[in-house]
Amino acid sequence: MLRSFLAAASLFALSAAASAETLLLAGGHIVDVERGVVMKDHDVLVEDGRIKAVGRAGTLGAPGAARIDMAGAWLLPGLSDSHVHLTSRADLHGFRRLTVSIPRAAISGVANAATTLRAGFTTVRNLGAPGFTDVDLKSAIDSGEVPGPRIIPAGQSIGITGGHCDSNLMPYEAHDTSGGVADGPWAVRQKVRENKKYGAEVIKFCGTGGVLSKGTTIGAQQFTLEEMQAIVSEAHELGLKVAVHAHGAKGIATAIEAGVDSVEHASLITDQSLKDAVKKGIFLSMDIYVSDFILGEGEAAGILPESLEKEKTVGKAQRERFQAAVKAGAKLAFGTDAGVYTHGLNARQFAFMVQWGMTPAEAIRAATMGNAELFGLKDDIGSLTAGKRADIIAVDGDPLADVRQLEDVDFVMKDGVVFYDGLGK
Ligand code: ARG
Repeated sequence: MLRSFLAAASLFALSAAASAETLLLAGGHIVDVERGVVMKDHDVLVEDGRIKAVGRAGTLGAPGAARIDMAGAWLLPGLSDSHVHLTSRADLHGFRRLTVSIPRAAISGVANAATTLRAGFTTVRNLGAPGFTDVDLKSAIDSGEVPGPRIIPAGQSIGITGGHCDSNLMPYEAHDTSGGVADGPWAVRQKVRENKKYGAEVIKFCGTGGVLSKGTTIGAQQFTLEEMQAIVSEAHELGLKVAVHAHGAKGIATAIEAGVDSVEHASLITDQSLKDAVKKGIFLSMDIYVSDFILGEGEAAGILPESLEKEKTVGKAQRERFQAAVKAGAKLAFGTDAGVYTHGLNARQFAFMVQWGMTPAEAIRAATMGNAELFGLKDDIGSLTAGKRADIIAVDGDPLADVRQLEDVDFVMKDGVVFYDGLGK
């Protein structure tokens, strides 16, 4: 882990210097994620961090371009994840969380950002971080100080006193309250404003109890409709989208009524709410892999016994509701909750999405064009199209035939800068 990070970091330094070059990625097979087909033997020309042109091998005429041989590789747009926690560690759950300072979480974030980028994820939404560590991490990445994906940070998650977004492990006299806790419509508006002030680019709030929080119930709605409407209207006024954490049916329905932009988890979503989400164009970001980690490795990672019990009631149900969502034609994001489980294994969720009703092309589209739409970045990322950012990854087998190819990414470029090249090795 340490070695791979250092190797990746030195590669990053080497290639950052070469970023102004024109690069020709020559002779690879391009996965057209929009149409779900492969275009064999094509070149991609990259200039100033953007895709300049895509065409049949040898037809682009790029004198002076540095050439990277992509023969035998399948090229895709960089993947994205709509729900990660870069500053969290998968081995520090439950009471162990109390030992982690905000600066320490930021340091983990630096390592996890590199790991995530190495796994082919070039853009992520970070849905909640202690303090504003994700905003600072973003700034360090954008200034070139440390490698990592493009981050859309949420800053502090907003939640009710004692809710899923609060910290409920300590007794009263410790006065341990999470930074995003607020009750009442004006108080939550103030939290949205505060998040915006300190750099959040999306608002995350908790609309129901959760699995991993102490003393909360999956089915219980958190915040009233009025409070949710206050969060959504304030955020939209400030130009921010809203992601709600919601497992239970009632909280999901209320958040959809309030007009959120994405429902995270959406585990027990009803048929009626599916219809409403489709009608309103609301994305569902269903993390259907993480249950395997929680039930398999969670106890060793410190997850509370009550959380393990709760997971047993949502894990399988969520997968079934994912299948129903696919059938209902809902907009599905690719969001994993990485951080709850090991960073860099984000792509494990693809196989589950295929097992539960999507074609490989649909699952890949969710992680590329789908998320690009949810993030408001449709013109910048999500496909290998001239004019978009040169976020390009490659694998050595056809991911439309076997989506698990994406679990082993051999080449990663972000903004035209090669972060990792292990092709042919
Ligand atoms: N952060 C989420 C929570 O604590 C994780 C839920 C994971 N379980 C699942 N089936 N998606 O509620």
